[in-house]
Amino acid sequence: MTARYGVIGWPIAHSRSPLIHNYWLEAAGLDGVYEAVAVPPDTDFRAKLEDLRAQGFAGVNVTIPHKEAAFAAVDTHDAAAARLGAVNTICLAEETISGHNTDGRGFIDSLAQVHDTTAKSASGGLAGPALVLGAGGAARAIIGALLGAGVGDIRVTNRTRARAESLVALADTPDRISVFDWAAREDAAQGATLLVNTTSLGMHGAPALEMGLDALAASAIVADIVYVPLETDLLARARAAGFTPVDGLGMLVHQAAHAFDLWFGQRPRFDTILRERLHRDLGEA
Ligand code: ATR
Repeated sequence: MTARYGVIGWPIAHSRSPLIHNYWLEAAGLDGVYEAVAVPPDTDFRAKLEDLRAQGFAGVNVTIPHKEAAFAAVDTHDAAAARLGAVNTICLAEETISGHNTDGRGFIDSLAQVHDTTAKSASGGLAGPALVLGAGGAARAIIGALLGAGVGDIRVTNRTRARAESLVALADTPDRISVFDWAAREDAAQGATLLVNTTSLGMHGAPALEMGLDALAASAIVADIVYVPLETDLLARARAAGFTPVDGLGMLVHQAAHAFDLWFGQRPRFDTILRERLHRDLGEA
């Protein structure tokens, strides 16, 4: 029987995960299919997972707004999920439903892709300081991963300062994270080797991120997790100023690669064909 996989979210119609996973399934010659599963908020998530398992699903990804509900619904968690209280990948085995979080590792891998190809960013941006803009779920995952990667000076700023402060609680070593006022974000960028935008600013239909980049280290990587549009105003300005831009497809595809690895025991690559397909799908071919 063809194994079923999918992504659960609401709304979910525009998810690019089916494109990514079905490309890898086909390339690896595996007998599986990956589909988008629309699940409204306030659904009994455990019952939904059991229902999907009964329908032949062996694994699912979880996206907005269900990552916390997924955490509560699974039997076991990996360390990243436990740290974040959020699950983005689930294995639906017969005995156990296990929850994982691959978002942070996916982000680090998106930097490594640049690090492999750009001598200038030899540290892959991880020498620090690193400045993270925003304090939502994506920021939590990225800060957790930066802590895990050993970055010693992580700065975080968010329009609502209290949310940024709550992220400090994530760290076993809170002295490695400092919180800045949103209005002071350019000061916070002083000497940073990595700037990450996790806010919705710059997304299609949202205002652009207003922030000068002059204070960044000359070798800095500027990453945006927004991928509609693929080249945000922030990334265009970063590129023009000679920094290394990393677009939002990096984290999306690499978190997916880690999920695929959990299900199939092999880590697929973000190759040129996949990148071209995603660009075409996003209307940016
Ligand atoms: P996610 O969980 O996907 O990261 P989220 O929780 O909706 O998303 O977070 C969106 C981020 O964009 C938040 O950091 C939000 O700031 P607040 O915590 O103050 O809401 C930020 N954001 C959204 N609109 C913004 C704006 N106009 N100016 C500055 N920050 C904004």
